Amino acid sequence: MNSTVARCSIVILISGRGSNMEALLAAVARGDLPVRVAAVISNRPAAQGLASAAAQGVPTAVVDHKAYAGREEFDAALAACIDGYAPDLVILAGFMRILSEGFVRHYEGRLLNIHPSLLPAFPGLHTHQRALDEGVRIHGCTVHFVTPALDHGPVVVQAAVPVLDGDDEATLAARVLAQEHVVYPLAVRWFAEGRLRLAGGRVFVDAERPIQAALIAP
Ligand code: GRF
Repeated sequence: MNSTVARCSIVILISGRGSNMEALLAAVARGDLPVRVAAVISNRPAAQGLASAAAQGVPTAVVDHKAYAGREEFDAALAACIDGYAPDLVILAGFMRILSEGFVRHYEGRLLNIHPSLLPAFPGLHTHQRALDEGVRIHGCTVHFVTPALDHGPVVVQAAVPVLDGDDEATLAARVLAQEHVVYPLAVRWFAEGRLRLAGGRVFVDAERPIQAALIAP
């Protein structure tokens, strides 16, 4: 790894538990992810992930959405906070706020999200229960570049898991989450290594569109 790659700076946005943030920090600590985590920012002061990030020496900040009159005001304050760290990449990791078009455009091409379904299936909330209700046999998660439409944008990587007989929302969510923790660090690594290209609305890794078939869990 050369020093240019190592300098890719990221800001992670969370709202709660922060297990995807933890997976990213763990990958950095292991030497598997050549980024500098400039900050973890939450819209909720009580987000569990904040304390954990701080304990690992990562700068943290809170931009509490309740302190702002509306979405535009909140998004402006959030963007000001993020831009204070001058990141190359902004990572939504369980960040539970809908972002305005202006915010999304400001970070175009450097804003990633992870969603717990195989998009375009099941955008929005309660994805695991909806997958069970629909009787799908394959479910999963998606890392994508963010566009102004909710849970939409060019797909970087998806991981598929089977829906097993006897699954409930909790067991299915756990199986998907384990894959989230694999593919998010992978997607961020590709970005940090300068290997992602957007062409015709599709994301290429180098010149290819790899299939993560090996990620189908038993
Ligand atoms: C994850 O399932 C993620 O896909 C979704 O919100 C959840 C966040 O979990 N966007 P965590 O805070 O990363 O543990």
